[in-house]
Amino acid sequence: MKLLVTGGAGFIGSNFIRFMNARHPQYAVTNFDALTYAGNLENLEGISESSSYRFIRGDIRDRQAVDSLLAEGFDAIINFAAESHVDRSIDNAAVFVETNVLGTQVLLDAALRNKVTLYLQVSTDEVYGSLGPEGLFTERTPISPNSPYSASKASADLFVRAWNETFGLKTLITRCSNNYGPYQFPEKLIPLFITNALAGEHLPLYGDGLNVRDWIYVEDHCSAIDTVLHHGRPGQVYNIGGNAEKTNREITATILQQLGKPESLIRHVADRPGHDRRYAIDNTKIRQELAWQPAHDFESGMRATIQWYLDNREWWRRVKSGAYRDFYERWYEKR
Ligand code: NAD
Ligand code: DAU
Repeated sequence: MKLLVTGGAGFIGSNFIRFMNARHPQYAVTNFDALTYAGNLENLEGISESSSYRFIRGDIRDRQAVDSLLAEGFDAIINFAAESHVDRSIDNAAVFVETNVLGTQVLLDAALRNKVTLYLQVSTDEVYGSLGPEGLFTERTPISPNSPYSASKASADLFVRAWNETFGLKTLITRCSNNYGPYQFPEKLIPLFITNALAGEHLPLYGDGLNVRDWIYVEDHCSAIDTVLHHGRPGQVYNIGGNAEKTNREITATILQQLGKPESLIRHVADRPGHDRRYAIDNTKIRQELAWQPAHDFESGMRATIQWYLDNREWWRRVKSGAYRDFYERWYEKR
């Protein structure tokens, strides 16, 4: 297969390319990524030499660049490219609309024009909004996004649906819960708290710390996308989740305990505006229809993740010393 992976220099995209390179070494993979603050070619070390892989720097909003690349002919596009951080979307939503909505529409148009066989949109459970203490998100849960980020991802999903219904493009949408694992940008909860704790810095816990996320080890998300790509029914949505609901307090305690750091590092800060209370995925459809299941439990996944950040201090120190510092100071100073 000839695959176009967009956003492959980010956290999940780079893990996906690594996963596919091992699982399907005969596939030709093109990684198209704008290298925003979140894109990092160091994430692809070891893969970049592979003859079945190539990197092209480019922006999914750039119609001409996308069109001329797709004219080469691809069997599938897997679109990871996005602005992905909720807090940044609250700080400045414009680029979220441009990349997540307009960029998706550019890809869909070009996919149709250039007869790409299959388009897979990597979406998120956040499009469903927030749950109370009971219940799970199924594929039938109404779309009800609460943050600018999730509103942009939900809009993109609706465009994907429309290109399937109106133009007959074969599309798939996956909606996964919170990922964690190697190469996650340390603005997200787990890598931020691991790296802050290692540096002896405070862990800024929002609100009462009782918000719940349903965590999945990134490799399990990658295997689920691989499964949907090969066996999913066009036009369908598949939820992906690892059955690991945890409060942010529980996550924080696990990190501090595994690193042997004191609870005094926790700093309770003002809540995130519009903070979704609980996410939880019902993954029955992908399990029953496509025989997928997660291979990692939360305990082993967290151990591996913490060990990775211990072993790769240079990677995260470099990432945290860049332009990210400006955002961090602006965002957390006022809390
Ligand atoms: P990330 O922020 O780590 O990576 C995003 C990548 O997209 C970066 O390499 C960046 O350079 C690239 N990119 C951004 N704008 C671009 C543009 N205009 N053109 C080309 N490339 C561009 O994100 P992530 O956490 O790896 O998430 C990847 C995808 O998975 C996103 O679509 C996100 O919505 C979705 N998702 C993430 C999670 C999660 O927990 N992180 C869960 C479910 C779904
Ligand atoms: O559910 C899937 C989504 O998960 C993805 O679509 C997003 O791209 C991804 O960023 C993630 O969104 P969240 O907002 O859930 O992840 P984040 O790591 O930012 O926050 C997780 C929880 O931790 C959330 O309840 C907010 C809280 N938090 C986060 C940060 C960064 C804190 O308490 N303190 C913090 O400093």
